[in-house]
Amino acid sequence: MKVIDTIAEFRNTSAGAAKPLGLVPTMGFLHQGHMSLVQRARAENATVAVSIFVNPTQFSPNEDFSAYPRNMGADLAMLREAGVDLVFAPRAEEVYPSGFETQVDVGNIASRLEGEHRPGHFKGVATVVCKLLTIVRPDRCYFGQKDAQQCLVIQRLNTDLNLGAEIVVCPTVREPDGLALSSRNVNLSPDERNASLVLYRALSKAKAMRDSGVADAEEIKLAMRNLIEGEPLAQIGYVSVADPFTLLELSNIDGQALASMAVHIGKTRLIDNMVI
Ligand code: PAF
Repeated sequence: MKVIDTIAEFRNTSAGAAKPLGLVPTMGFLHQGHMSLVQRARAENATVAVSIFVNPTQFSPNEDFSAYPRNMGADLAMLREAGVDLVFAPRAEEVYPSGFETQVDVGNIASRLEGEHRPGHFKGVATVVCKLLTIVRPDRCYFGQKDAQQCLVIQRLNTDLNLGAEIVVCPTVREPDGLALSSRNVNLSPDERNASLVLYRALSKAKAMRDSGVADAEEIKLAMRNLIEGEPLAQIGYVSVADPFTLLELSNIDGQALASMAVHIGKTRLIDNMVI
């Protein structure tokens, strides 16, 4: 496994690598959710590249950029074990040299839900993913359904700017009790870890209501909110039942919907979603 920290060297190396090439972009502190993407990429490509970069531009000043967990040694050991060929781990100055100005704005799909609650977040994500796709030139690029809106934003970006990768969306990986894996889970105290189950319980409730024939999205959202508000350590950011492609809020569900939420458990902001 080759670990590279400059754009010039990565570009040269990936250009000469066996094709197809699969890229898994990450911010490190890897867990089994990331590794499920790596395994899928390993099964489908001749070369597997993973990027590790905690992207400062997708955090706003009041967010957890400096506290975001990092462990490069453990990450590299896991990637070596999984048979990854190339790791791109640039420093922030390599990605954003002095004078850097360009921002990629993906438009409507990026303005809703997470975009509304984390202004600037998706500009940061779209800009760095655009750079990664042009530096690495992968045939396939892998993302997790846990970040459902991020997947839609990146699909739009990839199509609109003709970036030429196939965007592969992989299922959310959960703990046995339902908590979606996230690098941020490490910040939860034991009581908060317990309280965090309220996200999965609310999504399961939404799915059960939809499966039993409820089509009124407001009724489903109210049930989700009531359930979350019953947990004293949880504070709702938003609860949404939306069209799974446009993310516009629904009143009546005619087919599938994306139930999603952001909930603060103590100081940790968690997101999760389920297609219902
Ligand atoms: O999902 C993530 O870890 C990040 O948003 C990504 C896609 C690596 C961009 O920094």
